[in-house]
Amino acid sequence: MDSNTLRSRFLSYFEARDHRVVPSASLVPTNDPTLLFTNAGMVPFKEVFLGREKRDYQRAASSQRCVRAGGKHNDLENVGYTARHHTFFEMLGNFSFGDYFKREAIVYAWEFLTSEEWLGLPADKLLATVYESDDEAYAVWRDDIGLPEARILRIGDKPDGGSDNFWQMGDTGPCGPCSEIFFDHGPDVPGGPPGTPEEDGDRFIEIWNLVFMQYDRAADGTLTPLPAPSVDTGMGLERLAAVLQGKHSNYDTDAFQRLMAAAAEVLGVPQDNAASLKVIADHIRATSFLICDGVLPGNEGRGYVLRRIIRRAARHGHKLGARSPFLHRLVAPLGEVMGEAYGELATMREQLERTIHGEEEAFAQMLDRGLKLLDEQLQQHTGKILPGEVAFHLYDTHGFPVDLTADILRERGMHVDMEGFEASMAEQRSRARAASRFEGDYGQLPEDLAPSEFTGYEALEHGAVVQAILIDGQPAETLEAGQGGQAVVFLDRTPFYGEAGGQVGDTGVISAPGTRFEVRDTQALRAATPGHIGELAEGRLRVGDHVKAEIDADRRGQVVRNHSATHLLHAALRKVLGTHVAQKGSLVAPERLRFDFSHTQPVSAEELTRIEDEVNAQIRANVAAETDVCAYQEAIDRGAIAMFGEKYGDTVRVLALGDYSVELCGGTHVARTGDIGAFRIVHEGGVSAGVRRIEAITGEAVIRHMRDTESRLREAAELLRATPDDLVSKLQGLVTRNRETERALQQARDKLAQGTGGDLLAQAKEIAGVNLLASRVEIDDAGALRGMMDKLKERLGSGVIVLGAEKDGKAVLIAGVTKDLTDKLSAGALIKEIAAQVGGKGGGRPDMAQAGGPQPEHLDVALGKAADWVAAQLEG
Ligand code: ALA
Repeated sequence: MDSNTLRSRFLSYFEARDHRVVPSASLVPTNDPTLLFTNAGMVPFKEVFLGREKRDYQRAASSQRCVRAGGKHNDLENVGYTARHHTFFEMLGNFSFGDYFKREAIVYAWEFLTSEEWLGLPADKLLATVYESDDEAYAVWRDDIGLPEARILRIGDKPDGGSDNFWQMGDTGPCGPCSEIFFDHGPDVPGGPPGTPEEDGDRFIEIWNLVFMQYDRAADGTLTPLPAPSVDTGMGLERLAAVLQGKHSNYDTDAFQRLMAAAAEVLGVPQDNAASLKVIADHIRATSFLICDGVLPGNEGRGYVLRRIIRRAARHGHKLGARSPFLHRLVAPLGEVMGEAYGELATMREQLERTIHGEEEAFAQMLDRGLKLLDEQLQQHTGKILPGEVAFHLYDTHGFPVDLTADILRERGMHVDMEGFEASMAEQRSRARAASRFEGDYGQLPEDLAPSEFTGYEALEHGAVVQAILIDGQPAETLEAGQGGQAVVFLDRTPFYGEAGGQVGDTGVISAPGTRFEVRDTQALRAATPGHIGELAEGRLRVGDHVKAEIDADRRGQVVRNHSATHLLHAALRKVLGTHVAQKGSLVAPERLRFDFSHTQPVSAEELTRIEDEVNAQIRANVAAETDVCAYQEAIDRGAIAMFGEKYGDTVRVLALGDYSVELCGGTHVARTGDIGAFRIVHEGGVSAGVRRIEAITGEAVIRHMRDTESRLREAAELLRATPDDLVSKLQGLVTRNRETERALQQARDKLAQGTGGDLLAQAKEIAGVNLLASRVEIDDAGALRGMMDKLKERLGSGVIVLGAEKDGKAVLIAGVTKDLTDKLSAGALIKEIAAQVGGKGGGRPDMAQAGGPQPEHLDVALGKAADWVAAQLEG
């Protein structure tokens, strides 16, 4: 049975048993910064198990995409070298939220696995484990299923306190005893039953874990019963496929074999079972799905994991001989293998390819450089261990990741001194801190300077004492007006917010009688020590002076409106576009706010309207902004959004805007959302692959923006002598008329071109070696007729031209002779001759002459005469 059939069969089984089939959630967990990636089927349901979120169903089933790419139990470096480790896999699961419990969970699992109608696995090849004290589960296996007692194993706690039969999500969260179902490949395969020292062999393979969720584990280890006993199960699709296909290694199943074949083809190597092909087949899956879910290669957090995965795949391709990017070419084959369940592989194909290709190129450059350097180093270092500082240098100066160094060394039977590497890293970090931008720019802060107290959450002005002064980076006791130089002033307490978290620093004034220091920026030069940067406009400032610190309250007001609106925008984006939206950058300034976030396509006009409406509805709801200082973990448990990769202290500030937005934030905010006034998006655009930017304004700026727009509208209306109301209909009329005029103009041009074109020239004939063109034309304007004559002469090169037209019931004639012939033929004489035919007379120069006559009906005769005249002249 192939993997696609297996997946759909699993879902149908549970759907037929009243389970809601729920699509796989994003690999990036919602509201859970403690978790790098969705790593189990239950992750999207965590809040439901804990009773904090209600769904309109109590039973669910899913095939959840999962990534495990790090940590003790899933070392990235092992993937490809073992039979059952993956960075990306799918977990089939059924869930009960306070509905059924142990008995049904076991009965369903058994029926699905063994019934001929479903998977039809031989019952005598299965065995089950239960938690040692779980008599209830034991009894179900023995009595309801009829499993022989020899094949029901009780498993207790391990010496380290953990247990394979007590499952927990993490250090905290839902947990409970579990029962695992194993498949026995038979005595020919080495390995022992679960609970024995040989359990890791290939003989007994765990295929399904049934967790009986009963508790919520707190950080201190205490277990609180869940609101209702629940069920969470997980079965690896890839493993199950292997068992059903009679394979020991997941890489031998259909899905992986197809991917490995594609990889071999793209690389132009034979398809054997080389570990590198397995690595590539595994990694293209993780890579593609992570990018689909909004993760982009980067240097931190999730982005860094993705980068490591891509680079590892690229390096294994390199090992197989690839000398140009290849990994992106596996996106299409992956779509063929998995597209049935994951349509995004097709819709996002181009972006996937582009992102992967870009990363491959960057990597190739780095690899070239790095491999050379590493080789040089290895020649200098005999022995099995590469010193940590060498690996660090490769990483720090050349961007060569240490895991890659380790990988390469391992193939040569060597390893990196990781302790030494970490030590070099730590040293580097403290050097970087010492040379941090602000201290670098503004000089050394006195070592003994106490952190100042930030009062700006409540206060806008108050008295303070000057603690220190820096002038051009040098500590000073006194600052004089007009002395010049860059001055930074430190206070014991201050309402000035130092730029952080995207919110710009405050401006304002530090003053004392006769003294005025104008603060044009505030930067936290050292954690919790804002430096007030500016100029002393008058007087003198000394360390120890009592001063008044006063921020520009208007400007701050604009900043806080934009800051709170940023939080609402973030929440609205996640609501409207999806929870893959993650903050990638933010600027909160007085004039506007700017928010960068992960999203793979432009936000449509309709979506922008919905987002704007969402935010404005929250503003009108006028809910209080509540801040709370609490333990980091507590905040996360409350569902606060934290920035991934951001460092937070043990205690954090949580800002809640009603239930709509809860975020960790140290910035300053409005008291109630209504204070924001109004919110308007003024720009949406792309920043880089997969990152969009929204710029917006709030409060007064919205009114100003409206007025600007309106006045431009009025100006436009005035230009059209319309009112703003009938502007559009007037404009429409104008556009239509304009279009008609253009069409008419074009027609005229066409006609003219025709008149002067080849058609007319084709009528020219030769008379005694001279070209003669005599023709009637549709042009009745004398000027146009002359213009046409000039053109025709040019095109004819040499000859005689006569044109006749009718205008207002009269005949008009024009004759022309090219310069080379005027000594023999005169246009003036010609016109005199033929004008007589139309009852007129005329004359002119030898090269050009015009005439008119009252008998247009004789035009053709007149034109015909031209030939006779020319012939006669030339003979004569
Ligand atoms: N959540 C359980 C696991 O991951 C089913 O094994």
